[in-house]
Amino acid sequence: MELKNALIMITGASAGIGEATSLAFAQRGAKIALVSNQKTDLDRVTSTLVALGTEAQGYFVDLSKREEVEGLFDRIEREMGEISVLVNNAGIGLGESVLNTEESKLRLLFEVNFFALASLCKQALSKMSRRGRGHLINISSAAGQFGAPGISAYSATKGACHSFTQSLRMEARPYGVFVTEVLPISVKTKFFDSVEGEKYNPSGVVLTAEKVAESIVKCAASRRPHAEVLPFRPIRFAFLAETAFPGILDHILYNNFKKTHHDK
Ligand SMILES: NC(=O)c1ccc[n+]([C@@H]2O[C@H](COP(=O)([O-])OP(=O)(O)OC[C@H]3O[C@@H](n4cnc5c(N)ncnc54)[C@H](OP(=O)(O)O)[C@@H]3O)[C@@H](O)[C@H]2O)c1
Repeated sequence: MELKNALIMITGASAGIGEATSLAFAQRGAKIALVSNQKTDLDRVTSTLVALGTEAQGYFVDLSKREEVEGLFDRIEREMGEISVLVNNAGIGLGESVLNTEESKLRLLFEVNFFALASLCKQALSKMSRRGRGHLINISSAAGQFGAPGISAYSATKGACHSFTQSLRMEARPYGVFVTEVLPISVKTKFFDSVEGEKYNPSGVVLTAEKVAESIVKCAASRRPHAEVLPFRPIRFAFLAETAFPGILDHILYNNFKKTHHDK
């Protein structure tokens, strides 16, 4: 897709991967609609983009509130024009074991990480299908492919995002609308610091937000976008191993969990 002057809507654009993705799209000449519930950072990122000469507008929205999500896609299109790409990136984590997870927190995670994403995909597809063009990009996680101990609620929301995105991809295809799932491994952002509960210390390879942003923009710019984007490609071997031999990764994930949670 030609990104120059295309309007890109990005949720969770006030920090981390969303912020880096907004800047990366802006560098390609795109217009950006930024969505976040953090007013100060939303204003900061929006002002940075405007100072760079980008047409950008911030939308202060709490995606955990159904009434704020309803009609959001239409509202932005009314104010800024046709949205070519929707990047569903906003997400929150929770570092609690199953036994310690309160149901209210589980539900909050699903509201932001899954229900808001599903609603925005439906809103977008309803418009894009009539136009016969558009691209939906959902940021899930490697954690949606194999749940790790201590983050069951988070992994569940990302697993839901994975299956939903697969179904949506096939449903959207006849309308000429592309659907992509992005599955990052650990990324160095404030995400882990703001996670409630036990702090998760990523071990092994940790990506930068810019690296993930680059893979998202590359995919959006492509004429035939991939179904799935892995910013760290070797993780595919772990996905394949877990599919072929369920439980094969338990030992590694459990040892890492034990190290960060019990050996303190
Ligand atoms: N970091 C990783 O290791 C990693 C790995 C795999 C996948 N991911 C996924 O990548 C995405 C981005 O993560 P990140 O690392 O960039 O996290 P981040 O730095 O914490 O940024 C998350 C963004 O989402 C926004 N957000 C959170 N709750 C919201 C709500 N209720 N309404 C509107 N906006 C909300 C945040 O705003 P606030 O500033 O208010 O929080 C922030 O702009 C998430 O979906 C995450 O699950 C991250």
